[in-house]
Amino acid sequence: MPLIEFDNSLKLGISEIDKQHQKWIGLINKLYDEIDNQEVTVYSVKKSIDDMPDYAATHFFHEIDCLKKYNYKELDSHINEHKNFLKSVEELKSKYKPGQSELAMEILNFMIDWVIEHIKKKDMKFKEVLLANGMQ
Ligand SMILES: [Fe+2]
Repeated sequence: MPLIEFDNSLKLGISEIDKQHQKWIGLINKLYDEIDNQEVTVYSVKKSIDDMPDYAATHFFHEIDCLKKYNYKELDSHINEHKNFLKSVEELKSKYKPGQSELAMEILNFMIDWVIEHIKKKDMKFKEVLLANGMQ
């Protein structure tokens, strides 16, 4: 069973954003498997940790683009949430060296808590605006 289940509580009902959230959660689940699996090299864990913010940034770009298009009133605070996440991950990442499984777990847990909380509390707030504008 994956660590995080992409269930209805995480779905916005907007297909492109859901698809990207699902992919991101898939990457988080993959990282957990890599940390947990002794056969996987420490370098693939490092690669996953390095790649994660790139995927997140691409996804944020898409999300913000949609919010700008429909004049979402909490746009600035949403942008800040994303920025703070990327900054925190960069900080954790810069301390990480291959083989530090405790720090890898810390980075993983930070991402899990953030992504779940962010989707449920912040992204859910804009979904009505996008749906009302015909996004699906
Ligand atoms: Fe977001």
